[in-house]
Amino acid sequence: MREYRGQPALCAGVQGRQRTAGVKGQRPLGGYRAAAPVRSVEAASLYSGVQRWKTSAQGKLITHKINYVRQENVGTKEFREVIGEIAQLMCYEATRDLKMSDVQIKTPLMEMTGKMLSGKKLAIVPILRAGIGMVDGMLSLIPAAKVGHIGLYRDPETYEPVEYYCKLPDPIEQRLIVLTDPMLATGGSAVDAVRMIKQHGGKNIKFMSIIAAPEGVERLAKAHPDVQIYCGNIDRQLNEDAYICPGLGDAGDRIFGTK
Ligand code: PRP
Ligand code: URA
Repeated sequence: MREYRGQPALCAGVQGRQRTAGVKGQRPLGGYRAAAPVRSVEAASLYSGVQRWKTSAQGKLITHKINYVRQENVGTKEFREVIGEIAQLMCYEATRDLKMSDVQIKTPLMEMTGKMLSGKKLAIVPILRAGIGMVDGMLSLIPAAKVGHIGLYRDPETYEPVEYYCKLPDPIEQRLIVLTDPMLATGGSAVDAVRMIKQHGGKNIKFMSIIAAPEGVERLAKAHPDVQIYCGNIDRQLNEDAYICPGLGDAGDRIFGTK
């Protein structure tokens, strides 16, 4: 098995397929052109400040479900459901550090002091379209959360984000904002979305993606070092079409059945 940055390659099967990409009759990696790094990422400190889940019980469920939806034969209905389940599990982790304060509680038996969440409720902000697939899973845990929307699509030539919509809860300053997008590829969309939220006054921002490329993590961490990044998995690299490899393909198309 080939080594990647000192770690065994993430998926031996994909490495095998990559070697045969381009051979007549063989499908290239993930249906896209064979993987070739857009640029290599050397920074040893790349993952500092990035939360991932490999060891906790939730981490195992997240890993299982991510690898499940990677499979190309998973249809729209199931894909959408499992993306929602992953977002729900990730939401437990991303809300671990929410502030709590003491409150007086009267049970049918006696009075007690217990802790409850304090401060303004959270805001969930999906990046359209694919980020919408993560909202319901999170709302099932935090039903009172406000929901904003940021519309961005990647220019097919430059892969840079193009803005087409922005509606955020007002005021946003006091809220924890969880920005959601299943895919953190080049990082362009996430960097722009965070910038838009900050322009509206947002201060406390977390970014949650199901699969990230190292390139995207690095770009987001450099542009917005104050933003905590949560990733279900950090995959190997981008291919020359700026798709994450091994990845899961086009998240928006798979969630909404548009391809
Ligand atoms: C995808 C994905 C992210 C973006 C990631 O959206 O959902 O928003 O690409 O790529 P980046 O990190 O290189 O910016 P896409 O532009 O395909 O739009 P869609 O969700 O409407 O399909
Ligand atoms: N957007 C996706 O949906 N998938 C990728 O791999 C990259 C960008």
